[in-house]
Amino acid sequence: MDTPELIDRANAVLIGNYARMPTAMVRGEGSLVWDSTGKQYIDLFAGFGGAVLGHAHPALVAAVTEQAQKLWHVGNTFHTEPQVRLAEHLNRTAFAGKAFFCHSGLESNEAAIKLARLRGAQQNPKRWKVVSFNKSFHGRSLAMIAATGNPAVKAGFEPMVPGFMQVDLGDMEGLAAAADNETAAIIVEPIQGEGGIHPLPIEFAVELRKLCDARNITLIFDEVWTGCGRTGRWFGHQWFDAGSLSATRQASTGECRAGECVKPDILTIGKAIGGGLPVGTMFARPELAALLVPGKHGCTLGGNAVCMAAAATVFDVIEREQLLQHALNLGEHAMSRLRNETKAAGRVAAVRGRGLFIGVELAAAPVKLVERALDQGLITNVTASKVIRIAPPVNIDQATLDRGLDILIRAINE
Ligand SMILES: Cc1ncc(COP(=O)(O)O)c(C=O)c1O
Repeated sequence: MDTPELIDRANAVLIGNYARMPTAMVRGEGSLVWDSTGKQYIDLFAGFGGAVLGHAHPALVAAVTEQAQKLWHVGNTFHTEPQVRLAEHLNRTAFAGKAFFCHSGLESNEAAIKLARLRGAQQNPKRWKVVSFNKSFHGRSLAMIAATGNPAVKAGFEPMVPGFMQVDLGDMEGLAAAADNETAAIIVEPIQGEGGIHPLPIEFAVELRKLCDARNITLIFDEVWTGCGRTGRWFGHQWFDAGSLSATRQASTGECRAGECVKPDILTIGKAIGGGLPVGTMFARPELAALLVPGKHGCTLGGNAVCMAAAATVFDVIEREQLLQHALNLGEHAMSRLRNETKAAGRVAAVRGRGLFIGVELAAAPVKLVERALDQGLITNVTASKVIRIAPPVNIDQATLDRGLDILIRAINE
């Protein structure tokens, strides 16, 4: 395949809403990807987190192939076993709840807000407003750009859908003032991803839960980035240990017992859950889920058998290959290398993250860092103008990760 010719063809027929590199990818295996010229890249970004088990994982290929040969899609007027398997995995790894399946993170969030409003409509006065946080990202639908705390995402699409407002992460007073008797939901990411890898402080998560309980507000954790093992736990909220004093210590040693963590009323999941296929999930406490009766919400291809088979297998593989611990170990290793080996050049302001969800905040916006890294055979990403994001497949081996970090550290320091 001739790359310039493909790019010309693409420019003629594809909308230019993505800033694409002049590179065409044709093949992937594990954490490696090859372009149309045969050049190899180390993938430290996993396609914005979707390819959580890398490319062409044999178990995913087998699961999808087997399902595709059996049953593709019958619509949600029937039961299919892969949906049930996936929802059972969520009950085991998150909390006791019920699932609704769709295709993307934003759809999961839309479903969650609708469910919170259904609950709010039963209260007096009716609750319909939503509070979220500055620097958050919740998706690109009209409602989700209203929920997103980044003016650039909203620009040009005004007027915003009414009822959404943002406060600063950690500002409990601001939050208590914003959440009035018409507030249906608070939505928050356990670690702000697009905003620059900002973990929600554990104490703040505890306070959030208390506020929502006291005022009958639905608490939604948007785990589109942090779900399914990315942070070294099944879900990012499992770092929020309610046993306050020991919380920080337990979290830093990775010992939080899931049963003790601050839990949401609704968990929204996307990206990794499909292993790279389009799967979104809204997972709600049963009492809340019971409000979503036939006619209230739906999604034609949501829960289709092939995507569900892949998603259920993602959980099987993470468990079988003990990838939570692996992600924790490699995350610690990567963060310590990134801190130590960039010190002398003085360009790094902070390294933060959990598991294999890492942000390297630079002192100043880098010049063409993503392009320079790509040139050297590394796929990475910069967000919030100066935060390099590292989110490789969670099954990356240490040697490959180290080769990628070598390139990245050189690109930062030079
Ligand atoms: C936290 C969070 N929520 C929601 C979304 C939207 O997900 P999708 O692009 O699958 O609609 C994203 C996308 O990056 C995200 O990071």
